[in-house]
Amino acid sequence: MALDCLIDPVTERYLRTLPSLMPESLSEFEEEVRSAGFPVSSPEAMELLIFLCTVRQPKRILEIGTCVGFSAVTMATVCPGVQIDTIERNPAMIPDAKKNFARFQKENITLFEGDAAVILPNLSGPYDLIYLDAAKGQYPTYLPECVRLLAEGGIFLTDDVLFRGQVSAGKPDCHRNQTIVNRLDEYLHLLKQDSRLTTTVLPISDGMALSVKRRCTPDEKT
Ligand SMILES: C[S@@+](CC[C@H](N)C(=O)[O-])C[C@H]1O[C@@H](n2cnc3c(N)ncnc32)[C@H](O)[C@@H]1O
Repeated sequence: MALDCLIDPVTERYLRTLPSLMPESLSEFEEEVRSAGFPVSSPEAMELLIFLCTVRQPKRILEIGTCVGFSAVTMATVCPGVQIDTIERNPAMIPDAKKNFARFQKENITLFEGDAAVILPNLSGPYDLIYLDAAKGQYPTYLPECVRLLAEGGIFLTDDVLFRGQVSAGKPDCHRNQTIVNRLDEYLHLLKQDSRLTTTVLPISDGMALSVKRRCTPDEKT
């Protein structure tokens, strides 16, 4: 069973009529990327991401899944002075992402070109916020690296964890999505069972897992 949205459409439509947290200066950019059909984060995912950036005021952010740089430019706009590292493997997206970083003068965004599975082990933390929005079938593989790279008290947000209702329904809408559904189910159990994290799963957007890395007690540090 695949759903267009996880919350009922009337509620979603109503929520989208309310004033948004998106910076006014990026409304034209948002219109451009959405009308061009790039797979950028939904308005609900962006609202939560901006809210978390505002609350946490991160100094360093890691994003896995740049696309054309929409969410990275937005985070850089709402967190002035932040350093953002973002990873993208698709050569079709990379030139547009670079153009967008230059267009909005975001010199504080570093684009890592290549597969996150290869790049993540070579990065050094800590990051105050990690936004995982890439190949859903790979999420269980990325998890140990994300936890390693996350600061104590840092926020870890994962998008698309319910995959249009297919994870909660327990079955994919077509045979080739079976692996993704299995991996996302595995990922959610790994997240919830990980004693280093506190995680809640929100049925907004395409399903968002919101985790915070537990702070070590003085005893655990020695
Ligand atoms: C949903 S889009 C990201 C949207 C972006 N966060 C935004 O809102 O502007 C996912 C992106 O992740 C990239 N991606 C998927 N698997 C990846 C991997 N293993 N390593 C790096 N990038 C990957 C895809 O090419 C795609 O551009």
